[in-house]
Amino acid sequence: MKFFIDTANLDQIKEAASLGVLDGVTTNPSLMAKEGIKGEAAVLAHYVAICNLVDGPVSAEVLSTDFEGMVREGEALAKLHKNIVVKIPMIKDGIKAIKYFTDKGIKTNCTLVFSAGQALLAAKAGATMVSPFIGRIDDSNWDGVQLIEQIVQIYENYGFGTEILAASIRSGLHIVQCAEAGADIATCPLSSIEALFKHPLTDIGLAKFLEDSKKMA
Ligand code: E4P
Repeated sequence: MKFFIDTANLDQIKEAASLGVLDGVTTNPSLMAKEGIKGEAAVLAHYVAICNLVDGPVSAEVLSTDFEGMVREGEALAKLHKNIVVKIPMIKDGIKAIKYFTDKGIKTNCTLVFSAGQALLAAKAGATMVSPFIGRIDDSNWDGVQLIEQIVQIYENYGFGTEILAASIRSGLHIVQCAEAGADIATCPLSSIEALFKHPLTDIGLAKFLEDSKKMA
């Protein structure tokens, strides 16, 4: 399973990369705005800065919602760096744009996916990745991990090559459940990746070993 970090914060990306287990980055307009990045030039420069920190796919989202706009923006984003993946919303024109980029060999991430039918459309259009938002599904009292299981089954049935990128992760438990369900990638806040380290018995065991090590001196 690949680990992506879901942030536009350069310090958090550096911190996750320093762990040696980071495979890529996802961003979205909300995450970019949170970092105070304004204006086209600054946005493009920020994507390049992220690409320079991580040697793996970096999702950069288009802001247009019409086919022509998405194509224009996506082509400009793809030219920024070889690791850019054009992130496109799950709407009709988005699916058309994904097919266009697939035919041109440009990588895509179909975002804002909340149902198996949407994931099926993304795969048929040739999306490189599909992003089911499991945390937001849980927030609306449905089962986000169950959606991952459904998509895994459908993609296996037909041999689709689209990678399942579990998004909107809220906890370490979410990551483990998505791994069990067979997601190819989890994109997570740094806090969820760090949660995987934690177990009280590890802390108790280490304290005891360190205490006993004094007897070895
Ligand atoms: C995915 O690519 C999105 O950026 C992200 O996972 C959304 O997560 P949220 O529901 O925590 O905003």
